Amino acid sequence: MSKILLFILGLVATSVQAEAIDSRQVLILTESQRDHVLGEMRALLTGTQNILTALSKDDMAAVDQYARPLGMKMADTAETHLKGVLPQEFMQIGMSVHKDFDQIAADAETLKDPKRTLKQLGESMSKCTACHASYQIRTVNPAQVAGKASEARLDEVEQRGIRVMPFNLKQTTHVFSKTAEGGVQQVIVKNKSNIKQIKLIRAHLSKISREFAQGNFSDPEKIHGETMPGLAELKKAKMGQIKIEYSELPDGAQITYSTKLPDLISSIHQWFDAQLSDHARHAFPGHTNHQMHGE
Ligand code: HEC
Repeated sequence: MSKILLFILGLVATSVQAEAIDSRQVLILTESQRDHVLGEMRALLTGTQNILTALSKDDMAAVDQYARPLGMKMADTAETHLKGVLPQEFMQIGMSVHKDFDQIAADAETLKDPKRTLKQLGESMSKCTACHASYQIRTVNPAQVAGKASEARLDEVEQRGIRVMPFNLKQTTHVFSKTAEGGVQQVIVKNKSNIKQIKLIRAHLSKISREFAQGNFSDPEKIHGETMPGLAELKKAKMGQIKIEYSELPDGAQITYSTKLPDLISSIHQWFDAQLSDHARHAFPGHTNHQMHGE
C-alpha cells in the first residue's frame, strides 16, 4: 500500500476514534454499586415489557402487579446502597420514574384504562431515554487499584497537585487511555455546567501541551518527581518525534500523544501507568479498544 494511502487511512481512523469517545457525564462507581444500578435497570426493562404484554391482553390486574415493584419500594433499597454516590439530579430523575410506576399501578387498579396506562408509560419512558442520553457508568478498574500507590504517596501527590494544577481535583476526572500510537490524556468536569473548572482545565492542558512539545515536563515532575517511569525517555525525544496535540472537549480538554517509534510508545504507556497509580483517587484508565484502529 502506498504511503499516501496509509496516511489517509490513518486520518480516517483518528477521526473515528475521536467520535467514538462517549461524552455523557461519567458516574464512577465500584463494581458492586454498578451491579446494583444495572440490576435495577434490567428490572425496569423486564417490568415494562411485562406491563406491555399485560396491556395487550387488557389484563389490568397484571399491570398493577408488574408496576408495583418498580415504584418507590425499589428506590428505597437503592437509597441505602447509593446515597451520596450519585448526583442529586440523577437521583431526582430516578425517583420520578419510580413515582410514575406507583401511579401507573394505582390507576390500573382503580381506573382500569389501558389507554391511560399506555400514555403514562410513554411519558415515563421519556425519562429513561433522557437519563441514558446524559450519563454513563465507569468503574474503578481493579488492575488500577492493584497498582495504586500507598495512601501516604496519594496524599503527597494530591498536595503537590493542588499547587501545580489550577483546577479542582475533586470536581474533575482524569482519564488516561493508551493507544497504539501513544495515548490520550483527558481531564473532564464531573458536572457539565461547571464552566469555571472547564476554563481552568483548558488553560492548564493547553499550557502544558506547549511545554511538553518543547521537551519541558517540569509540571508533572513537580507532582510525581523526576524518576517517573517513562519520563526520562520522553524528555530525550527529539523535536517532532512525538506529536503532542491539544484539543478542547465539550466538558474539558485533552492532550493526544502520538509517535511512530515503538520505544517512545512504550515510554508513553509507562508514563500513563505511573500517573494512574499516583492519581488513583481522581484518575482512571480509558477504553483502550481503539488501539485496534492503528493495528
Ligand atoms: C436516573 C437515570 C436513569 C433512568 C431514569 C433510567 N436509567 Fe437505565 N441506565 C442508566 C445508566 C446510567 C445506565 C448505564 C449506562 C451506561 O453506562 O452506558 C443504564 C442502563 C440501563 C440498561 C442496561 C442494563 C445492563 O445490564 O447493562 C437498561 C436495560 C436500562 N438502563 C433500562 C432502563 C429503563 C427501561 C428505564 C425506564 C423505565 C431506565 N433504564 C431509566 C440510568 C437511568
